[in-house]
Amino acid sequence: MQKLIINGGKKLSGEIRIQGAKNAALPIMAASVLCGEEIILHNCPRISDVYAAMRILTYLGCKAGFAEKNTAVLRAENVTETSISDELMREMRSSVFFLGAVLGRTGKCRITLPGGCDLGPRPIDMHLAALRRMGVTIKEEYGVLDCTAENGLKGANITLSFPSVGTTENIMLAAVLAEGTTVIQNAAREPEIADLAELLTSCGAKISGAGCGRIVIKGVKKLHGCEYSIMPDRIVCATYLSCAASAGGDIVVSDCRPSDMESILSIFEQMGCIVHSSADKIYFSAGRPLKAVSPVRTMVYPGFPTDAQAVVMAVLCRAKGTSVFVENIFENRFKHTGELCRMGADILVEGKTAVVKGVDRLYGAKICASDLRGGAGLVSAALSAEGTSEISNIHYIDRGYEEIETILSSAGADIIRV
Ligand code: EPZ
Repeated sequence: MQKLIINGGKKLSGEIRIQGAKNAALPIMAASVLCGEEIILHNCPRISDVYAAMRILTYLGCKAGFAEKNTAVLRAENVTETSISDELMREMRSSVFFLGAVLGRTGKCRITLPGGCDLGPRPIDMHLAALRRMGVTIKEEYGVLDCTAENGLKGANITLSFPSVGTTENIMLAAVLAEGTTVIQNAAREPEIADLAELLTSCGAKISGAGCGRIVIKGVKKLHGCEYSIMPDRIVCATYLSCAASAGGDIVVSDCRPSDMESILSIFEQMGCIVHSSADKIYFSAGRPLKAVSPVRTMVYPGFPTDAQAVVMAVLCRAKGTSVFVENIFENRFKHTGELCRMGADILVEGKTAVVKGVDRLYGAKICASDLRGGAGLVSAALSAEGTSEISNIHYIDRGYEEIETILSSAGADIIRV
């Protein structure tokens, strides 16, 4: 089992380049199933979730691999398999949007219910209700979902009870080759949705309104290949700002998109950090002393994102005053608080609320990641702690972060992977 060993107390400096967005790359890779021709994806992060998506594509009979450092080549000339094995489904919760893509291309698909994960139960009731409205028959037996659209997928008017990111993406993937027009009301507005829509449009799809609450997709007969560059990862960017805020120092973050991150940058400014941004760069100085921020409420986009909750909490553990977090999106997304308390943080969790009383210092400790962003939060806290921290279960972190220790050590952190 690999571990990260971090000796805290070193300020960060220099420039950090941000990787392509995991949560754009994954639905875009699923979209390649809909195209009979080659898709070349630039700025594709080398993270384990992307490799898992490549394994699913290969299992389906498609070709998928990295041509060079961050350029992936995907070819779905023929889809020879329409079921996704349980083992592959369990590897990654977000494999559920392969359902929409395989149905869109072949009219049938068999998957198992995606594994729950450390954020709580991860139901897909909204995905299934939407697909049924598009003419899909779904038989559920022993956790296996047998989906068929006997007469092909039909466009439908779908209103989401909650602007679910995955559901919005799944409907888009199922709708681009469907017969007729699909309208999604109360659609998710996250920037990754617009990135997926842009890729699909580059392949010949007819989509309008992505990024707003109402998306209209007019079915077309066929999609062609294209060459596309994935948007920057706003949560990875938030993570490195958190590391700089925790460790202290000044950094320049490049190849990012500050316009996707206004709610996140505002929290760092409320803490007392100095944030100047251009179109694709952020000039960031850690504030000292850091001030508490309250409340920090996680919301759907453009509100403060749930994925940035843990990394912001890691910084506020040492702020002057008390910060209150309200986690409105997932049921169980405070698992990192126990580990932060082992480092000397003072956090009380009550339901969906976490009360973080700032302490003067954190101490290095043996800590354990239990999910992707919680693990990233532990890295940020360890950079500011006195002494040595040992973080285990870092495979969670590797799901979404490319070379985290290389990037942080090049910015001055004392961090190694063993
Ligand atoms: C996407 O997950 C992201 N994953 C998550 O990022 C992110 O936290 C989340 O959106 C919210 O922004 C990917 O894009 C691969 P949802 P998703 O559907 O699609 C409930 C990370 O760290 N729900 O918007 O699963 C659900 O249980 C990951 O990169 C239903 O009840 O998010 C959750 O409470 C973590 N029924 C809420 O909605 C459904 O059918 C938000 O889920 C679907 C969702």
